[in-house]
Amino acid sequence: MTRTPPARHARPLILGFETSCDETAAAVVGGGTHVYSNVVATQHDLHRRYGGVVPEIASRAHLERILPVVREAMREAGVTFDDLDAVAVAHRPGLIGSLLVGTSAAKALAWSRGLRLIGVDHIVAHLHACYLRPDRGTEPGDGGTTRQPKAALGLVVSGGHTSLFLVHGPLDVEVIGRTIDDAVGEAFDKAAVILGLGYPGGPAVDRLAAEGDEHAHDLPVSRLGPDSFDFSFSGLKTALLYKVCGQPLGAGKQFERDGSALSDRERADFAASFQRAAVKALIVKVNRALDRFDTDTLLVGGGVSANSRLRDELDALARARDITVRLPAPEYCLDNAAMIAGLASTRYRAGLFDDWTLSASTRSDVATGRVAV
Ligand code: KG4
Ligand code: ZN
Repeated sequence: MTRTPPARHARPLILGFETSCDETAAAVVGGGTHVYSNVVATQHDLHRRYGGVVPEIASRAHLERILPVVREAMREAGVTFDDLDAVAVAHRPGLIGSLLVGTSAAKALAWSRGLRLIGVDHIVAHLHACYLRPDRGTEPGDGGTTRQPKAALGLVVSGGHTSLFLVHGPLDVEVIGRTIDDAVGEAFDKAAVILGLGYPGGPAVDRLAAEGDEHAHDLPVSRLGPDSFDFSFSGLKTALLYKVCGQPLGAGKQFERDGSALSDRERADFAASFQRAAVKALIVKVNRALDRFDTDTLLVGGGVSANSRLRDELDALARARDITVRLPAPEYCLDNAAMIAGLASTRYRAGLFDDWTLSASTRSDVATGRVAV
């Protein structure tokens, strides 16, 4: 059957699903970069009282929300299922129960409508988010990472991952560094718990840091070995914990005091000092990689790329080193399905489709070495 999408939509026209963690999301993207709709239902309300994501609650919430979210994405984009070229889904990495909801829903829809199915790696999709833009008319897309003349550097900073890549092409990435313990977003979330701020912690720390003195406390910036591109954030988290709460008592679960004893001023100073150290640890490794590899472009993605201090530092770095730094628009930093549908269009153009055996996986294929995704 020949599909004829409405003239105003770029092709391929793809509906994307994202359910890897605690956002239920669906989006319609054309030509890899034109975002016609981007619907995200967060579950923060459900997980807040636990201070983190509870996997069982997350998968049940995805089940309840996925169909309304898809309907909303289709309605906003002004398309029908018959207009689509493919259905894409983030099938790795993430929480297995959550991934299964999105993967099963995408497969069911693709099978019942006779559409192509495309599985996408969530982490690589965060880098594609740099190329997305809300559709405002008919200008052609730039094709995303396909236009990269030489390898770009890629930095993914999220709640589950902190990785540095060489992006040889949109579907050809090589991991050169990753966290050896906590992800940077996870460290922001833990810092927020220590300081008695809400969940998710990153935005709360970011906001409060603006009011504090970032030199008030000397917190450690991890560098690891002189040639290392890896990251480490657990030392920073522990240093903050001890400075705020004092020494552990007994087995280590109790401390001399807790964050509730802090004044507003003290809390803001800690937030600012923590943020400065966390961002510096990222910038140190980016500079190291730029010294080592011949590249003039840095792609950044993931929830922490919304951080105002990181964005300022990257702006300064772009000017100082005369390179192009591509950051996602704020609405595409956090988990979303537009990045899934966008990256899927590159697979579509390459004829890389999945069959009904596509399975969800907690692990990413891009965890080590150079891989085709
Ligand atoms: O990419 P993302 O939505 O989900 C994962 O794939 O993990 O990233 C979520 C993470 C959370 O840890 C959240 O606290 C952090 O991104 N985050 C921020 C900011 N906004 C979100 N961290 C620092 N500053 C922010 N403005
Ligand atoms: Zn993510």
